[in-house]
Amino acid sequence: MNIKDHVLRRLYGASISDNQYVSGEEISEELGVSRMAVSKAVKQLVEEGNEIEAVTKKGYRLLSITKELSEAGVIAGLCEELKDIPVHVYEVTESTNKNAMDDIVNQNMNEIDPEKKFKTALYIAKNQTAGRGRLGRSFVTFPGRNIYFSMVLTPGELVGNNNSDIVYITTAASIAVLRAVKKVCGIELEIKWVNDLYYKNRKICGILTQAVSNFEAGHIEQVVVGIGINFVVRQEDFPAELKDIAGALYEEEGDEVPSVSLLSAEIANELIELAKGLSEHTFIEDYKKHSMIIGKKISLQNRAIAGGELKYAIAEDIDETGGLVVRFEDGSVETLHTGEVSIRKAD
Ligand code: BTN
Repeated sequence: MNIKDHVLRRLYGASISDNQYVSGEEISEELGVSRMAVSKAVKQLVEEGNEIEAVTKKGYRLLSITKELSEAGVIAGLCEELKDIPVHVYEVTESTNKNAMDDIVNQNMNEIDPEKKFKTALYIAKNQTAGRGRLGRSFVTFPGRNIYFSMVLTPGELVGNNNSDIVYITTAASIAVLRAVKKVCGIELEIKWVNDLYYKNRKICGILTQAVSNFEAGHIEQVVVGIGINFVVRQEDFPAELKDIAGALYEEEGDEVPSVSLLSAEIANELIELAKGLSEHTFIEDYKKHSMIIGKKISLQNRAIAGGELKYAIAEDIDETGGLVVRFEDGSVETLHTGEVSIRKAD
């Protein structure tokens, strides 16, 4: 962690506890650098939009963290376990999932702590030019402020040992976003099976998980959990065909809009917690509680199930593995594990 990232993390930690001031001397001793270097880092942080007060004999106090995406801001909000992971922040990139996949394939993942052997990293961008969506679709960038977030996780090291559990990671990711948004924004989201997040009946977040597997050893080496969130987008800025479907967490910039960096960090914190307990499926209860389709009439676009034709059903339940239990019009019941469903408007 560089001096600037350390200083912001330290000041942020103090700002959310009682001990709000941190002396320059304390920080310089912790880092083994000069007071001058600390004061230079503070100056840079202020230039990046963080508000930091300096009071003689007391030290520095963080008044507010910048709302813009910044590496230091993300690191400031990461939990103790993740504080040393590589965090890559981009103004614009093709796709954060691609950045992550490329680094995995090229073995570029910094092993920060070889003792712990964990391999995780974050790739977060303000804009994407070739975002990837589910089912081979592209994920379009809308004008406004968005979050394009990818997190690499390595099963068996950081996230438990049972390879078969990793299939639950996408379901867990939807809960991670839901919890982080509730905590940082105070907004309650709903989930449309499989893993789209909705706010006020509009999709505000999509998740795409990609995996790198070792064919010979027969296991998944790494997963990349990609999360796209429409953060601040005006409703009129969505293209006509999406105006009734897509939405954002916020329509306008304002005081209530929190820091993108802190929201991103919180998603990573929640995801790592959930990833460690994947085998227990403890998040399914929460998933069911926030499901917007249980009890609703739905149509299925899953060709494997519907044999090419559109089928109608009632979404009856979500089982303990995240499968969707549906009852078709002929009374037959099936549990779906992949696919896409639409909620039918009331007849
Ligand atoms: C979907 O709803 O189809 C899933 C969309 C997932 C988009 C995210 S944005 C960050 C990451 N990078 C990508 O290229 N895709 C995922």
